[in-house]
Amino acid sequence: MLCTEKILTLHQQHFGQTGPTFLAPGRVNLIGEHTDYTGGFVLPVAIDFCTVAVISPREDGKAVFFSQNYMEQAEYSVGELAGTPRPRGHWSDYPAGVAWSLMQEGIALGGFNLSLSGNVPLGAGLSSSASAEVATALALLACAGVSMPQEKIAVLCRRAENEYVGAKCGIMDQFVVSCGAEGHALLLDCRSLDYELLPVPEDVRIVICNSMVRHAHATGGYGNRRDEVEAGQRALQQCRPGIELLRDATLEDLEACADKMPREAYLRCRHILTENRRVLEARGALLQGDLARFGALMAEAHISFRDDFASSCEEVDTLVEIAQKLPGCIGARITGGGFGGCTVNLVKKDEAESFMQAVREQYKAATGITADVYICLASAGARAVK
Ligand code: GLA
Repeated sequence: MLCTEKILTLHQQHFGQTGPTFLAPGRVNLIGEHTDYTGGFVLPVAIDFCTVAVISPREDGKAVFFSQNYMEQAEYSVGELAGTPRPRGHWSDYPAGVAWSLMQEGIALGGFNLSLSGNVPLGAGLSSSASAEVATALALLACAGVSMPQEKIAVLCRRAENEYVGAKCGIMDQFVVSCGAEGHALLLDCRSLDYELLPVPEDVRIVICNSMVRHAHATGGYGNRRDEVEAGQRALQQCRPGIELLRDATLEDLEACADKMPREAYLRCRHILTENRRVLEARGALLQGDLARFGALMAEAHISFRDDFASSCEEVDTLVEIAQKLPGCIGARITGGGFGGCTVNLVKKDEAESFMQAVREQYKAATGITADVYICLASAGARAVK
């Protein structure tokens, strides 16, 4: 857990002011990968890594962001942030984009100093960016004296990332970071944004293993995959009336239209359609306490992501194979956007410690890389720090 008092002290030292403090978690996705931007289903969990934001007003109309992680300050004017997005290719694009998105929504912002500090591993697929965005949004809204439903905050933060930062992400990350609940996974229908909280069993631990292979979404394969998926979706829309989003298609529809789209698009869409089914089945398995089935679905999801979606990598596959053979492992798969990053593992509570040690040792022996391994708690969504 981050020490919020230390963050407040640093804000005071840097800006000479105190102010309210807000926290937003990172997230890990249990199942449902790359399904969000075609209106499908996801089952993520908010975790106990987080970003903390402290805010205080200033009188001169400047918008100043200070990152305690980078020990660096970035200055804008509020007026400039109200205009056309001009991303700098810098960490401050994320909080600046949130200010832009709130102003696009008609929220009047005055000048402010905002400090950010976080412990969500960067580039690991645990949503450090969504966490920073949502913490920023809570702080800016409080400073403007505006309250807003958490669901809406998620939508505006996604807009910041899509339209200001220029990363074509879906809604999953910002949504669970905003609306997650302690002890629960969140089943989200990414079209309607209806969601359901499902208890994570007490005797299960969520273990995250970081392959240490880093990905970069804005420039990496994520956008390419999204383009391939959208090409398949367009072909389906043309050959099957009534399909608004890929989510509406069946596997039979896909087979029937297979020759109307590139082979890659067909395979990517097959992953998504089977994944949507797996998420709904995983919901049932969790509600019935059928963890063996849940684990089997995670294994199928990994294979589909690796083969049909072609977005895993050798190191991550190795981590999954190691985990699946260890005592106490219920399920293991890649999590997040892909091309490296982390695996998510459900492990029996009593075997979690020995699992972590064995994964570390065996991964090091197989790849020469020392993995970071963490036990995470399903945590509450973004909130003010009391
Ligand atoms: C990233 C994106 C999400 C989602 C996942 C893949 O985390 O930000 O919107 O698409 O990848 O499931």
